[in-house]
Amino acid sequence: MSNDCQNFDVLIIGSGASGLNLALELSAFARVAVITKSELKESNTYYAQGGIAAVLDEHDSIEAHIKDTLIAGAGLCDKDVVRFIVEHGREAIEKLVNYGVEFTTRTASSGHAEYHLTREGGHSHRRIVHAADATGQAIESTLEERVRSQTNIKLFEHHNAVDLWSERFGDGKTKRVTGLYALDIKADTVKSFSAPFVVLATGGVSKVYLYTSNPDICTGDGIAMAWRAGCSVANMEFTQFHPTCLYHPKAKSFLVTEAVRGEGGHLLDPKGRRFMKKFDERGELAPRDVVARAIDFEMKRMGAECMYLDISHKGQDFIEKHFPMIYKNTKAFGFDMAKEPLPIVPAAHYTCGGVMVNRQGRSDVDGLYAIGEVTYTGLHGANRMASNSLLECLVYSSAAAEDIRARLEAGVDAPVSPPQWDESQVTDSDEDVVITHNWEELRRFMWDYVGIVRTDKRLARAQNRIDLLQSEIAEYYGHFRVSSDLLELRNLAVCAELIIRSALARKESRGLHYTLDYAEADNVNQRHPTKLTPNHCPTETP
Ligand code: FAD
Ligand code: SIN
Repeated sequence: MSNDCQNFDVLIIGSGASGLNLALELSAFARVAVITKSELKESNTYYAQGGIAAVLDEHDSIEAHIKDTLIAGAGLCDKDVVRFIVEHGREAIEKLVNYGVEFTTRTASSGHAEYHLTREGGHSHRRIVHAADATGQAIESTLEERVRSQTNIKLFEHHNAVDLWSERFGDGKTKRVTGLYALDIKADTVKSFSAPFVVLATGGVSKVYLYTSNPDICTGDGIAMAWRAGCSVANMEFTQFHPTCLYHPKAKSFLVTEAVRGEGGHLLDPKGRRFMKKFDERGELAPRDVVARAIDFEMKRMGAECMYLDISHKGQDFIEKHFPMIYKNTKAFGFDMAKEPLPIVPAAHYTCGGVMVNRQGRSDVDGLYAIGEVTYTGLHGANRMASNSLLECLVYSSAAAEDIRARLEAGVDAPVSPPQWDESQVTDSDEDVVITHNWEELRRFMWDYVGIVRTDKRLARAQNRIDLLQSEIAEYYGHFRVSSDLLELRNLAVCAELIIRSALARKESRGLHYTLDYAEADNVNQRHPTKLTPNHCPTETP
C-alpha cells in the first residue's frame, strides 16, 4: 500500500510561522516540501492574539528587552541566544511587513502613523506589535498566500508525519536524517519522502494536558520523532500555563489575551476583589508563572471554579477597538466584557523545552533541523515572556534558511530514500476504544499530577501511569495499522514521559516548575537546563 518516494532539497514538517517563513526563504534557491497534518493554516500561530515582542519604540532598548527576558526566564536563559534573538526583532517585523502583514497603527503626536505597541506581563515597556487581537491570523494568512503562489514549494496538507528516516554509515552509529514517512490521512496510505535536509516545525505539546489553549494539532509529534531519531531534548518540565482562558463548558479553553491586562484589565476573585498585589508587586503584569500560580492558589483557597478578568471600566469603544475578536467570541458565549468581568481559568499554553538546537537550528543528529516551539534554543529559560515565541520562530527560521543555503551551495551527498513502509505484519485495529481511553487518561493524570503545582509523590504516580501506558501503546502500535489518533497518542506518551522525567530531575522550584517538596530555587546545584539524551539519563549542561 505504499508509494514511490518523493524527493526534494528540503522537507519541512509543519506550517505555522516557523515552517512557512522558512519555506518562503528557501524557495528562492531550493525545492521545498511542506508536510502538514491538517489544512495549511491550522497551527498555534493562527490563534496567536497578543503579538510579537520587538524593540521599535525610541524610548525602549535592546538591553531592556534582554533584561526582561532574563528576569522572566528565572536564571535559566542562555544570554547569548537572548541577545541574538532580541537584536533581530526589528528585522523580523520588517520582513513580515514586506510580505504584507498589516499591524495595528496609531497616529503619533508628530502626526505620523506608527505601530501601536501594547504591553504584556514581564515587559518593562510597551513593545508588542500586533494586529488588533488576532495577530496570528494576520501573519498566518499572509504567509499562506505567499507560500501558495511559489512554484518551488509543494504543499502536502492532511499528511501526518509518522517518523524520521535516518541513514547509518561508518561505524553504524553515525546517523544522518534523510527522509520521513507520512500518513496521507485522506488516502489512508503511508508515503515516503527524502531530502538532504529535514526540518521540524511542528510546534509544542500542550495537548498533553486536559485543559489547553492550543488547537488539537499540538501533540508534540516533532519532539517525539526527534527523540526516537536520537536527538537530545532540554527543559521539558517547563510547561507554561496561560493565566486567562475563558471558563465556559463549550469554550474549549478560548484564550483571553494578556494584552487585556496590559491595557488595564484587573483580576478579581468571586467577591469582586483584586488579589494579585498579595502575590507580586507587579500585580496583574507579573510574569505568567506568577499570575497562573496566584489564580490556582486563590481558586483552591476559595473553592472557586474560576476567577474573573475585568476590563469593563475601559468602556465599550475602547474594548471593541482593541479586542474586537475576543469581544465578539465571548459575546457568542453569553458574556459582555464591556459590562461585566469574564470568568477565567489557567490552561496549558506553551512548551518552553524541546529539541536542543544550535544557533542555526541544527539538532544533534546530522541533516535534522528544528525551529519554533518544538525547540529548546535557550531563549525562554524557566518561563517564556509573553510574545517572545513568534519572534523566536521568525529569527530561527531565517537563521536555518541561511545555514541550509550555505550547505546546499557547498554540495551535499544524495540522500538514500527510505524503504517502502511495511504493513505486512499488522492488521486493522479492532478496538479503537483503547486509543480514546488512553488519550483521556493520559491528559487527565498529566493535569492532576504534573500541573501548575507538583510534588514528588504526584510525579511518581504519573511515572507509574506513563510506564504502563507506554507498554500498552507499543503493543498496539506493533499490531495495528497506523491512524492519526494512534500516532498522536504515541507521541503524547513519549512527551509526557520526557516531561515527568525532567520534572523529577529538578529538585527545586524555579519559573514554571513549582513543587511543594522543594519550594525554593536552588542556585547552587540546579541552575542549569535539564538535558535528556535518548538513553533516558538526565545530564547536566552547566
Ligand atoms: P505552530 O504554529 O504550532 O505550527 C505547528 C505546525 O506543525 C502545524 O501546522 C501542525 O499541523 C504541524 N504538525 C504538527 N505535527 C505534525 C505532524 N506529525 N505531521 C505534519 N504536521 C505536523 N506567541 C507569541 O509570541 N505571541 C502571541 O500573541 C501568542 N499568542 C498565542 C495564543 C494562543 C491561543 C496560542 C495557542 C499560542 C500563542 N502564542 C503566542 C504561542 C505561539 O503562537 C506559538 O508558540 C507559535 O505560533 C508556534 O509556531 P510554530 O511554527 O513553532 O508551530
Ligand atoms: C496572549 O496574547 O496572551 C498570548 C501571548 C503569548 O502567548 O505570547
